[in-house]
Amino acid sequence: MNLLDDKKQCYVRSAYEACSPSEKEQLLRNLENVDWTILENLKEKVKERGSFSPIQAVDVRELTERREEFVEAGLAALRAGKVGAVLLAGGQGTRLGLDRPKGTLNIGIHRELYLFEQLLLNLMEVTDQAGAYVPLYVMTSTINHQETVKFFEEHDYFGYPGEYVKFFIQEMAPACDHEGRVYMASRTEPAMSPNGNGGWFGSMVKAGLLDDIHSRGIEWLNVFAVDNCLQRIADPLFIGATLVYGKECGAKVVRKASPEEKVGVMCLEDGRPSIAEYYELTDEMRNERTGKGDLAYGFGVILNYLFSEKRLEQVAREKLCIHVVEKKIPYRDVDGSFVKPDQPNGYKFETLALDMVHMMADCLPCEVVREREFAPIKNLHGVDSLDSARELMKGCGIEL
Ligand code: UTP
Repeated sequence: MNLLDDKKQCYVRSAYEACSPSEKEQLLRNLENVDWTILENLKEKVKERGSFSPIQAVDVRELTERREEFVEAGLAALRAGKVGAVLLAGGQGTRLGLDRPKGTLNIGIHRELYLFEQLLLNLMEVTDQAGAYVPLYVMTSTINHQETVKFFEEHDYFGYPGEYVKFFIQEMAPACDHEGRVYMASRTEPAMSPNGNGGWFGSMVKAGLLDDIHSRGIEWLNVFAVDNCLQRIADPLFIGATLVYGKECGAKVVRKASPEEKVGVMCLEDGRPSIAEYYELTDEMRNERTGKGDLAYGFGVILNYLFSEKRLEQVAREKLCIHVVEKKIPYRDVDGSFVKPDQPNGYKFETLALDMVHMMADCLPCEVVREREFAPIKNLHGVDSLDSARELMKGCGIEL
């Protein structure tokens, strides 16, 4: 696809015209390196879904009753070095509006406590209990890679042994306006952004990390988001439950606060595990109850999954669905001025980690107590914010 031949592509064409001869060459090289077929997803922004049905979850009651059995199984896997953790930290955190990696956010009030630091502290609770370290793979993007690595190094990996921490960079995708006109970030560079959190395993493979995974004997990967400061990582209870149930995937879930709550819920789609977005549920499904009186679609995902590594390798070549997401995209305008929008002005193209669950034959949703394990920081104030996360942390006895 030659964007410059397309009259519609005003941002690219005006940038080209403003370029010096050497910049023109640079721009052409940059355009050549992008997979423009991704723009075809604009034609079909809403994806067709299969037929949804409820999925069986293991709830807090069962997890409490069988705690010892599950924790033992989980600790045994951890001690045998079978579990690795993957921190998804390639996002741009646009809602938070931070100009640096989200994990560098200071969540402390009377002391310094960084989001990355809190996550490492959470992980070290587990590694202390197991008496074994868990390899931690950190996904970054070209935008925040250097700063992230430097932050870990400057803080001495927050007390975690450096040889157990590896970084890898995710891929990027172009962004465009509502009419499909590709935005430019500068005269020579198209506006690129991280291509979502779904490509993490593919990016690990590209980064050559399979050798590391195999040589360490890792059989399970626990993937999780950077922005939940109460995140339990490599949780032996969760790992053990998934292993004892013999599933190839596990998902931490929280009970929905009400049928209307806007979270993606675990379900089956055409008989395979899946996640239905809140707007994909009909009124009837939203309010459907099980025999026990619980909501049939009552467990929301919190971006903490455990995957069989072998299975991930098997499905690595399968294409993940591309989500067209409306976002605020800074760009170079046709007159050469630079625009930083305060409202969404176009689309980014993202794959999502939750779609990998549907590639698995089965999945065990494990209920966790929201107040203990789910404090996402998406915004500075309001819902899912630094403010709400601080309150939840205080509720867990963490001094800030
Ligand atoms: P979000 O969906 O909240 O996206 O990411 P974000 O980029 O952090 O924030 P907004 O939407 O721009 O405000 C959920 C998790 O997935 C990671 C994030 O770092 C976070 O841990 N992520 C997201 C990636 O690793 N790569 C991406 O391309 C997108």
